[in-house]
Amino acid sequence: MSKRPRVDPSSFASAPKRQYGAGGGYGEQQGYSEERSSAQRVADHYSARSNQTLEERESSPIIHLKKLNNWIKSVLIQLYARPGHCVLDLACGKGGDLIKWDKAKVGYYVGVDIAEGSIKDCMTRYNGDTDQQRRKKFSFPARLLCTDCYEARLDEYLYEDAPFDICSCQFALHYSWSTEARARQALANVSALLRPGGIFIGTMPDANVIIKRLRESEGLEFGNSVYWISFGEEYAEKKFPASRPFGIKYKFHLEDAVDCPEWVVPFHLFKLLAEEVFFCSLASTVTKCCLCLNRQKLLVTTHCF
Ligand SMILES: C[S@@+](CC[C@H](N)C(=O)[O-])C[C@H]1O[C@@H](n2cnc3c(N)ncnc32)[C@H](O)[C@@H]1O
Repeated sequence: MSKRPRVDPSSFASAPKRQYGAGGGYGEQQGYSEERSSAQRVADHYSARSNQTLEERESSPIIHLKKLNNWIKSVLIQLYARPGHCVLDLACGKGGDLIKWDKAKVGYYVGVDIAEGSIKDCMTRYNGDTDQQRRKKFSFPARLLCTDCYEARLDEYLYEDAPFDICSCQFALHYSWSTEARARQALANVSALLRPGGIFIGTMPDANVIIKRLRESEGLEFGNSVYWISFGEEYAEKKFPASRPFGIKYKFHLEDAVDCPEWVVPFHLFKLLAEEVFFCSLASTVTKCCLCLNRQKLLVTTHCF
């Protein structure tokens, strides 16, 4: 489905909306403040990361991983995006995929991220103001929104932009798994905003590999010279009851890239939840989604540990 541009590219996100806690905020219920601080820690971390120059990027200790990740995203986008498609990029970051979407000749782009600094960098990249920008302007109009994708009801903000033909959430869906409510909201947002037959593409760490590595290690930490993962004492027994699949937090450090809390996503449960949420939407709003999930082996083959 192609979409008429609703936003003049020249006026693109001149004042990106900052809507933390949109749709009612985090509220005062028990557990919300801890959750809020975790989400804020993630946002602060990504916000503080500055754009790298080409030279800095090429000399990064994880340059090959970055290239591999970009290749994975390129393949997904080329496989599923079609010319004229209306794109929703959840947790879009600094707009690292803008060029990929441009190559796919999409018609309209909406990027959402919790980190204000990333949204600003994304705007700069879109406007062609970075020294590593290969082209001046993108061919599609765009809109950026700064909010928590796993807390806010995005359909309340994007009703004029919906429905989307394709929704992407790359290397970020696992940040929704801190609570069941957030995981459900993430999927509900996707379901509510995709058109019938729309496509969702996503990439997340492989929980099986994380847990396997943890069990193989002597303590609660494992890694190598470029990354480490550390679990809290509450996981001293290295047991993860099926009855508590949400909120399994670990600290993730990846040299030159990430240093913040993340959450294990048992993939079979993710699929079950997605089927449930998408099916409910099918019944209530006649939204039908083709779920195309790609599990990136973030902590196995791609890193060659
Ligand atoms: C590893 S980066 C990936 C960025 C981008 N998708 C890419 O592939 O280049 C993870 C992104 O998720 C965003 N993020 C984490 N939690 C979020 C949330 N609750 N709502 C929106 N964005 C979130 C971070 O701000 C960060 O930009």
